[in-house]
Amino acid sequence: MSQQPRRRPSKPYRRPQKDPVRILAFEALRAVDERDAYANLVLPPLLRKAREGADFDARDAALATELVYGSLRRQGTYDAIIAQCVDRPLREVDPPVLDVLTLGAHQLLGTRIPTHAAVSASVELARVVLGDGRAKFVNAVLRKVAAHDLDGWLERVAPPYDEDPEEHLGIVHAHPRWVVSALWDALGGGRAGIEDLLEADNERPEVTLVARPGRSTAEELLVAAGEDSALPGRWSPYAVRLAEGGEPGALEPVREGRAGVQDEGSQLVALALANAPVEGTDRAWLDGCAGPGGKAALLAALAAQRGAALLASEKQPHRARLVARALDGNPGPYAVIAADGTRPAWRAGAFDRVLVDVPCTGLGALRRRPEARWRRRPEDLDGFAPLQRELLRQALEAVRVGGVVGYATCSPHPAETRAVVDDVLKGRGGAPVEVEWIDARPLMPGVPALGDGPDVQLWPHLHGTDAMYLALLRRTG
Ligand SMILES: C[S@@+](CC[C@H](N)C(=O)[O-])C[C@H]1O[C@@H](n2cnc3c(N)ncnc32)[C@H](O)[C@@H]1O
Repeated sequence: MSQQPRRRPSKPYRRPQKDPVRILAFEALRAVDERDAYANLVLPPLLRKAREGADFDARDAALATELVYGSLRRQGTYDAIIAQCVDRPLREVDPPVLDVLTLGAHQLLGTRIPTHAAVSASVELARVVLGDGRAKFVNAVLRKVAAHDLDGWLERVAPPYDEDPEEHLGIVHAHPRWVVSALWDALGGGRAGIEDLLEADNERPEVTLVARPGRSTAEELLVAAGEDSALPGRWSPYAVRLAEGGEPGALEPVREGRAGVQDEGSQLVALALANAPVEGTDRAWLDGCAGPGGKAALLAALAAQRGAALLASEKQPHRARLVARALDGNPGPYAVIAADGTRPAWRAGAFDRVLVDVPCTGLGALRRRPEARWRRRPEDLDGFAPLQRELLRQALEAVRVGGVVGYATCSPHPAETRAVVDDVLKGRGGAPVEVEWIDARPLMPGVPALGDGPDVQLWPHLHGTDAMYLALLRRTG
């Protein structure tokens, strides 16, 4: 009698466990990856929808946010580590698989989640979103990632600082090398400063509110938020900083548009322009790149207190609508138009004060947009360069002799800041313009470490603000 070969009893099939936090984090990463979406725009509606369901509380939302932001922020570093743990070039790993691996790597290396929980949660996620076959691959890779902690991995994947400082800092602090290089050029100084800056980019910024002058006060915001949930701003008399988890939308002055969410760096820029001395009249103000309207709303409120009017102009009609919403209810005269600032819809010399907060790479706001640093390319600078120069030229045309122009960027990259101003003043690509520099530093009273002037560069690690740049120029002829 022939014997049947004995079959090993197969494991009974177990359904994958659906973990809503990790599934939501995966969906957010896919949207950022596939649709070039911004995490700060994709995540809130996903979280809102999840919280409408029964089983998703505030702690789940906080964990999902941490997983998404942390994974995106440190993506380059995690890529370098995962590349050591797979048997093929990373570009040959399917993007959804890589997203699950990145989420897993962040749990293993960037959070306090215990190793076994991080691996098993990632494998369960892979079973749900990728299928059982690819879940095995995820399991194998993450077990290799788990062999070292983050410091152990950094020693393995980053070159020693002395051999290649920029590459070392880029991997250790999760910034592309060219961004490290640009930020270091702008900041100057030694290793300690740039390391502090890169780490500040990896921290989530506080939510800062602005009390729009004449409509609300910092005191009102502090009372509305509650003593334990808010602190006064560091530099701006109108600023209030919310404690972690504070919901601006829950505050009445914000809901009524009398206050808004605005980084203190942006407040300082608007205040410095508003307080720069002009000669003669001070009735007509222009914000030439106003969308979505943060600075315009502060300027409009300040203008109203002085009997001046603000024209807020923005090229993109949908962003002009956001400006109109931000300015709604302003007590003084204002107008919002959709117009191209390089083809002005106003006559030359019509304004006493002009702000151009030009489109830029946003390298000064990396802490707000975790994916931005990996998306930006050095070539982007060339794309913005002519537009930035033309917008500044037109701003200088728009202001009358004796009036003031503020040129602002939320990038500290020298090619977007001083180089633009110098080129325009020297007449490169247009006629030379007669101006005098205004020292912006005394217009930010109490703010330390503002450099040699006359222009000002703010920094996240020194001022707790975005890295806003401001040059103030008075038209002299
Ligand atoms: C850095 S943002 C301004 C931020 C704004 N000042 C605030 O505080 O909310 C630059 C804005 O310039 C707009 N823009 C781009 N090209 C423009 C142009 N040619 N003329 C006017 N605005 C332009 C962009 O659509 C964007 O809304």
